[in-house]
Order: sequence, then C-alpha cells, then structure tokens
Amino acid sequence: MLYNTLLFIHSFWRWLAFLLPLVVLQRSSRAVIVRAPYAPVDRKLILAVTIVLDVQLLLGLALWAGVSPLGLQSFSSTPHLMKNPVLRYWAVEHGALMVLAIGAFHGLSASAKKLTDDRAKHKRVVMACAVVVILVLVNMPWPGRPYGRSLLPNM
Ligand code: HEM
Repeated sequence: MLYNTLLFIHSFWRWLAFLLPLVVLQRSSRAVIVRAPYAPVDRKLILAVTIVLDVQLLLGLALWAGVSPLGLQSFSSTPHLMKNPVLRYWAVEHGALMVLAIGAFHGLSASAKKLTDDRAKHKRVVMACAVVVILVLVNMPWPGRPYGRSLLPNM
C-alpha cells in the first residue's frame, strides 16, 4: 500500500521535476539574450524548482532506502545484482544520477544568489536548470528501455 502510494506520487511528480526546470531554462535563456533584469519572480521560480526537486529526492530516497524491493533491499536479496542491467539501474544508477542532478542544481542555484550582476545570475540559472533537464532526460526510465516504465503512473 505504502509502496504503491509512494511509487505513484514519485511517478507523477517526475513531470514536475522535468517540466518546471525546462520552463525556467527557457525563460532564463531568453532573459540572458534580451538582458532582462533578475526580477522577484525569477527568485520565486528557482525556489519552486528547488521544492519540486527536493520532494522528488525525498520520495526517491524513501523508495530506495526502505519501501521498494528494487532499492537497498535488492542488494541482499539478489546475488550478482551488478551483472543484471535492469536491477543495477534501479539499485544504483537511477538514484545516483538523480542525486547528482539535484545536488548540481543546489550548488549552481546557490552560487547564482551570490552574484550581483543580473545577466550573470540568469546565466548561472540556465546552467543549473540545463544540468537537471539533461540528466533527468538521460536517466528517465523511458518506455522501450530494458528498465522502462510507462509515461503515466500505474493506477
Ligand atoms: C528528478 C529526479 C527523479 C526522477 C525524474 C525520477 C523518476 C522516476 C520514475 C519515472 C520512476 C518509475 C515510476 C513508475 O514505475 O511509474 C522512478 C522510480 C524509482 N525511483 Fe526515481 N526519480 C528521481 C529521483 C530519484 C532518486 C533521487 C532516487 C533515490 C535516491 C530514486 C529512486 C527510485 C526508486 C527506488 C524507484 C522505484 C523502483 C520500483 O520499485 O519500481 N528516484 N523514478
């Protein structure tokens, strides 16, 4: 029950974790080009992306560390786990790359705050969101991959 609920929310939340950084990436890239000022709404958008990513991180960690049989539990239940690409993806690669993406976003967006020049701030936000969009795009369990899942959460 808990497993299904967390997996459902994590699965649905992926679209926020992918699309919101994509929208902010587009907006900040445009701001760099037209030399737009760094407005309060830009700060709020970065906060929104941070919250969305951190919620996804917590859900993922809860699944990986305890609830999902494909996370930490699979190390003890499956011998030669690292030789199986699907099990290795869920037990190691998926979480590690997503943590890397979210960690890089935190580092880059925090460093944007310290900059004083508006264009430099927008450029740093572009970098922060681009890292998330690229790593999530590469690491998503798209249908058709050996470890692929459907595009919408299973009801
Ligand atoms: C932006 C970050 C992330 C995205 C977009 C994402 C996306 C997904 C998707 C689409 C699924 C499949 C859901 C389904 O079956 O419908 C999934 C499952 C899962 N994710 Fe993530 N994830 C992210 C971060 C993380 C992190 C940081 C961890 C762990 C540290 C993690 C651990 C897991 C686990 C354990 C599963 C469940 C496998 C299972 O039992 O079926 N995820 N994730």
